[in-house]
Amino acid sequence: MTNETDVSTQGELPAVGLGTWKNDEPKTCADSVETALEVGYRHIDTAQVYGNEKAVGAGIDSSSVDREDVFLATKLWIDNLGYDDVFEAAAESLDRLGTEYLDVLYIHWPAGEYEPDETLPAFEELRSDGIINHIGVSNFEPEHIETAQEILDAPIFANQVEIHPQLQQRRLREFCSKAGIELIAYSPLAKGRVFELETLSEIAESHGVSEAQVSLAWLRQNGIASIPKATGAEHIRENWASQELELDEEELARIDSMDEQHRYVTPEFGPDSW
Ligand SMILES: NC(=O)c1ccc[n+]([C@@H]2O[C@H](COP(=O)([O-])OP(=O)(O)OC[C@H]3O[C@@H](n4cnc5c(N)ncnc54)[C@H](OP(=O)(O)O)[C@@H]3O)[C@@H](O)[C@H]2O)c1
Repeated sequence: MTNETDVSTQGELPAVGLGTWKNDEPKTCADSVETALEVGYRHIDTAQVYGNEKAVGAGIDSSSVDREDVFLATKLWIDNLGYDDVFEAAAESLDRLGTEYLDVLYIHWPAGEYEPDETLPAFEELRSDGIINHIGVSNFEPEHIETAQEILDAPIFANQVEIHPQLQQRRLREFCSKAGIELIAYSPLAKGRVFELETLSEIAESHGVSEAQVSLAWLRQNGIASIPKATGAEHIRENWASQELELDEEELARIDSMDEQHRYVTPEFGPDSW
């Protein structure tokens, strides 16, 4: 039985958070966020480009959980990364979310208006002004991180990237681990494709759980926080309950052998090295 108040964490970061991409009908989105918080989630992930920051804020507001107990993350879109735009866009996000600060603000992609010399000093100022607690990056390859580290005095807290059994990101995992940067797995259910993977189905069946729970347990046991997107209470609860599942060494190794380096998120502005 899920303990509704117990929050499993990887350091400051809860092991399982709520993704909200494409959950943009305001009432549905607010209800998903509220449900998740009542179930025990404490990490909510959104982005300016998802068009749902207002609904996410409303969901937090109507829950019984205090804002300061939530790890709230949003992302600046690629056309808002010029020095002045960063301040303006961050203020707009705060306003829509109904909050005075963000736990982490991400650079959504190293693309568009992203210019390390301009964008990163602005993020650093937001951090020293207490508007954001942490600087985050997303879809950064080791090369992007190295460039950013040369400019930043403040640490990069997290890199949010696609990770699931079909895209295991070994090189990036090793790099981020050495650099002390948290990895946060987006599309941790391979956008729902985990249900079509035979190895996951076999492991799921032997535990009486779902393929989604197996994928999330594999990530958690590898020290990677995840943000599965789920809309209704059933999926939200099921994903949270993945924290009760412990895979053994053999099962973890079977999933390790599933890597196909297959990406589901491949916009044309993605890094050249993909
Ligand atoms: N930084 C980036 O560039 C980036 C890119 C992509 C995603 N993200 C973030 O990562 C989050 C998650 O990634 P994602 O949305 O791409 O994909 P995902 O979490 O891998 O998969 C979401 C899909 O799985 C379904 N689902 C969730 N839990 C389920 C369960 N227990 N059983 C059956 N189906 C289940 C969802 O359906 P329902 O909605 O119907 O529950 C939805 O269709 C996003 O929402 C977003 O916050 C970030």
